[in-house]
Amino acid sequence: MLDAFGKCRPRPDQQLAIETGLYPYFRPITERLENGEVVIGGHAVLMAGSNDYLDLSQDPRLKAAAADAIGRHGAGNSGSRLLNGSLRLHEDLEAELADFLGKEAALVVSTGYQANLALAALFTPDDVVYTDQLIHASLVDATRLGRARVVRYRHNDMAHLERLLEEDGTGQGRLILSEGMFSAEGDLCDVPGAVRLSRAHGARLILDSAHDAGLLGAGGTGAAEHFGQQGAVDLQTLTFSKCFGTLGGAIAGPGHVIDYLRHHGRPAVFSASLPAGCLAAARAALHIIRTEPERRLRVLAAAAKLRADLTALGLPTAPGITPAIALQVGDTLMCLRLCKELLAEGIYTNAMVPPAVPGGKALVRLSLTAAHTDANLARIVDACAAAGRRLGLIPARPGHTVAASVLTP
Ligand SMILES: Cc1ncc(COP(=O)(O)O)c(C=O)c1O
Repeated sequence: MLDAFGKCRPRPDQQLAIETGLYPYFRPITERLENGEVVIGGHAVLMAGSNDYLDLSQDPRLKAAAADAIGRHGAGNSGSRLLNGSLRLHEDLEAELADFLGKEAALVVSTGYQANLALAALFTPDDVVYTDQLIHASLVDATRLGRARVVRYRHNDMAHLERLLEEDGTGQGRLILSEGMFSAEGDLCDVPGAVRLSRAHGARLILDSAHDAGLLGAGGTGAAEHFGQQGAVDLQTLTFSKCFGTLGGAIAGPGHVIDYLRHHGRPAVFSASLPAGCLAAARAALHIIRTEPERRLRVLAAAAKLRADLTALGLPTAPGITPAIALQVGDTLMCLRLCKELLAEGIYTNAMVPPAVPGGKALVRLSLTAAHTDANLARIVDACAAAGRRLGLIPARPGHTVAASVLTP
């Protein structure tokens, strides 16, 4: 008889990473230092692997708002919004998010993962969902929980999506599902292309703005606004765990759709609601996002500079504008090695290997925040140069110097 627990052993690549000392995950952070460093394994290293793009998770205003709300409402709500976990704070934040995003209504849930999973309620057997091949696991899981037919199009390939929409004339409901900013590669959805196709083919467009809300567009509402298309996106999902510096998620769109998801989105109905501390922190973050655009401008400028420096070094740096910068090494072991070498150089980064990325597309993800200084960027470049040369990713070349500062005020 097969042991149902027999499958519970490391995958071969995971085992290899453990045996070779390259396993990079679940490293506990024991302390946060003032200068952007964290203590990992007893060593102070520069954090270049968080999604705290606007540097709000440590902001005193968020901490004070959270502490005050916990003082008034307690540490948790002990139930779902539907039954016993609704606070006025949820409603206030929902109204403020809807206003920020220019949507009729918003629904707050407990994580970005749950916001995406709630979309499953829209995916019925009467529908077809067209998904970008590289969407986040939470969106993939929504299509698995839903019962619609799923058609995948090649990453950001609007010609492919158009062909699929044209071939598929079934008269069913249609939805196009993409991320605004793709989490691994840091590239942007072709929003104008997706909007054009959604209109031409009667499809609803859903964008996951987990990484781009707060970061992109003149008002900070995300990738759609960056392309001048904010009003053309039918539904937008968000997380509070990245630019908003706390925890939580939301869906924003037409009032009747949000009301439907409030009653049918399974994570909204069957999971405990977001506690007051996170709600208050998210409201404080939203206020900062709306009033301090300099934060996003600063991190985007830092990203442009670092990307240019890494490209000039000859590292396989993905093009783009966002603060998630992918070093596309391809091979999984090389990716793990680069991560380890960078850590030895005092820089913490993220190894993205299959299944988080497709086979053969492993990458090291460097991510910047508004707190990174010119000195931090120079340190990252020097570490990448040293590690890249040691691993043969860039030819050895003496005397590399980092370009002069454009960031320090
Ligand atoms: C694109 C994308 N969507 C959704 C999520 C889930 O967000 P959360 O961490 O709030 O559950 C993430 C987080 O990694 C993400 O990268």
